[in-house]
Amino acid sequence: MRTGIFYFTSTGNSLHIAREIGKAYKESELISIPQVLKDKDYFHEYDIVGFVFPIYYGSMPELVDRFIRAVDVPRAKYIFAVASKGSKMKFNVMTHIDRLLQEHDQELSYGKEIMMVENYIRKFPVDKFGNPMLLLKDAEPVIGKAINDIATMENNRPFKTTVIGTIAEYLYNSWVKKLGTIDKKFVVEPGCIQCRICVDVCPTNNIEIEDGEPAWSGNCQDCLGCIHSCPSKVIQIGKKTQGMKRYIHPEIQLKDIMDSAP
Ligand SMILES: Cc1cc2nc3c(=O)[nH]c(=O)nc-3n(C[C@H](O)[C@H](O)[C@H](O)COP(=O)(O)O)c2cc1C
Ligand code: SF4
Ligand code: SF4
Repeated sequence: MRTGIFYFTSTGNSLHIAREIGKAYKESELISIPQVLKDKDYFHEYDIVGFVFPIYYGSMPELVDRFIRAVDVPRAKYIFAVASKGSKMKFNVMTHIDRLLQEHDQELSYGKEIMMVENYIRKFPVDKFGNPMLLLKDAEPVIGKAINDIATMENNRPFKTTVIGTIAEYLYNSWVKKLGTIDKKFVVEPGCIQCRICVDVCPTNNIEIEDGEPAWSGNCQDCLGCIHSCPSKVIQIGKKTQGMKRYIHPEIQLKDIMDSAP
C-alpha cells in the first residue's frame, strides 16, 4: 500500500519521527508540507496518509492547518497524525485535525502527541523540562510504540479534549492573528557571516539578505528555524533570546531542514 507522510519541521524533532515511521513501510514517501503549499500540489493518491508536525500553541502551525484544509487524498483508507511537542501537556490538536478532515468526508484514525524537546525559545529555554538528550532518549520508546500502532493500523478514536487544550485553542487563535508582525522583533547582532542558512531553512521564504544581513518580510510562521539554525547564533528576538541555547535534533542535519524548505 502506498504511504505518504506529510511533515513540517523547524528543528528536526518532527522530521526524525516522520523518518522513523517511514522506515516501517516498504513503499513510503516523505513529503514536505511547505513544498506542497508552494507548488499547490494538493491531490495525492496514497492509501495510507500521515501528518507529522510540531504542536504550536496547543494546536498546529498555521501552515499545517492550511495544508490539511487543502489536501485531497481520496484513496486514503487510514489517516494518522503524530505531533511532536516540548511539554508533557495534552492538547486538543487531534480533534482539530479530525474536524478539518470531516469537511472532506474523511476522519483521523489515529493520533499521538509525543514529548520531544522544547524549541520555542521566544518563551522557554530548550532545557525547560530537562536535559534535551535525555528527553530524546525517553521519547524513543514512545515513538516506537506509535510506529507499531500505525503499522498495525490501530484506531484510537475518539480523541479526548483537555481543559489545557481548550485554553491553548484561545491562545492559538490570537497568536495566528499576530503572525503578520511576529518577526518585527527579530534582530541580527554583529557577527553574521552571510552563510544564508537562515534564508535557506525558512519554510515561507521570509528572509532575504539585505546590506549584508538577513531582513524579514512579515510572512513568518514563528517556527524559529532561522534562529536555531544560525551557526553564529546572532539572530535574536530583541534581548529575550540572548545567551539561550539553540537546538537541532541530533540526527537531523541542517541540510535536511534546508531540503524541506520550498
Ligand atoms: C510557535 C511555537 C509554539 C509552540 N507551542 C507549544 C505548545 O503549545 N506546547 C508544547 O508542548 N510545545 C510547543 N512548542 C514546542 C514544539 O512543539 C516542539 O519543540 C516541537 O517538537 C518542535 O518540532 P520540530 O523540531 O519538528 O520543529 C512550540 C514551538 C513553537 C515554535
Ligand atoms: S522567518 Fe524564521 S521564524 Fe519565521 S518562518 Fe522563517 S525560519 Fe521560521
Ligand atoms: S544564518 Fe546567521 S550567520 Fe548565516 S546569514 Fe543568517 S544570520 Fe548570518
